[in-house]
Amino acid sequence: MTLGFIGIGKVGFALANGLQNKGHSIIIGNDDPSSKSVKSALESNESFRTMSIGDMLTEVNMVFLATPFSAVEDIVSKIGLENMILVDCTNPVGPNISHGLESKISGSEKIQEWAPGVHVVKAFTIYGFENFQNPVYPKYPMEPVMLMAGNDPESKKRVAALVMDLGFEAKDVGPLDQALHLEHMTLLWVKMVRRDGHHPNFVWALLER
Ligand SMILES: NC(=O)c1ccc[n+]([C@@H]2O[C@H](COP(=O)([O-])OP(=O)(O)OC[C@H]3O[C@@H](n4cnc5c(N)ncnc54)[C@H](OP(=O)(O)O)[C@@H]3O)[C@@H](O)[C@H]2O)c1
Repeated sequence: MTLGFIGIGKVGFALANGLQNKGHSIIIGNDDPSSKSVKSALESNESFRTMSIGDMLTEVNMVFLATPFSAVEDIVSKIGLENMILVDCTNPVGPNISHGLESKISGSEKIQEWAPGVHVVKAFTIYGFENFQNPVYPKYPMEPVMLMAGNDPESKKRVAALVMDLGFEAKDVGPLDQALHLEHMTLLWVKMVRRDGHHPNFVWALLER
């Protein structure tokens, strides 16, 4: 598949690089010629293409959004994302690693409000980027789980295929109102690692019977 990326920093690059290694084509949408992360991404992976966000949207029907949450409203309300699948990798983080929207609504639902015609799928947020760079945990017989939420079942299936390409088990946890709980899982992971010093190379697994 040809996949669009807006935001190609730690998270965007890890996902784009992993997906490119699995045979997907990556287009970085970027309107800032001075962007350091775009320069660095192109130096690290020569097969990435880059173009304006507007041009990128004419070539893809799935876009990964991996920018700071504070930039998202401006981005999604300015560009035409009608019928696009938007993989929301962002997390609204507030002071002292709190929920940035005071746990009243998820960031993903805000994106859905700002861009009503888009199919938002929350995914790739519950762990740090280190685990997107390398999702292999050799001591265990199962794959790490990637929890995903969204309102459109078909869009979730298409994102799930990419989740599996990257080496995760894909688990659909339900509609987009579940994204708030995923964002709290993220805060749990982030506080353990970024605040309290737990090493970053750990993930959750799903054990069912
Ligand atoms: N870091 C993690 O472990 C992790 C894990 C899961 C989810 N997340 C979430 O993923 C998102 C990205 O995090 P990150 O750690 O990858 O951040 P990062 O390394 O700082 O990268 C941010 C990216 O967003 C771009 N960007 C910033 N402002 C923008 C704007 N106004 N318009 C377009 N692009 C803009 C940056 O481009 P420039 O280089 O041009 O500034 C860069 O490519 C955040 O919402 C974060 O909460 C992070």
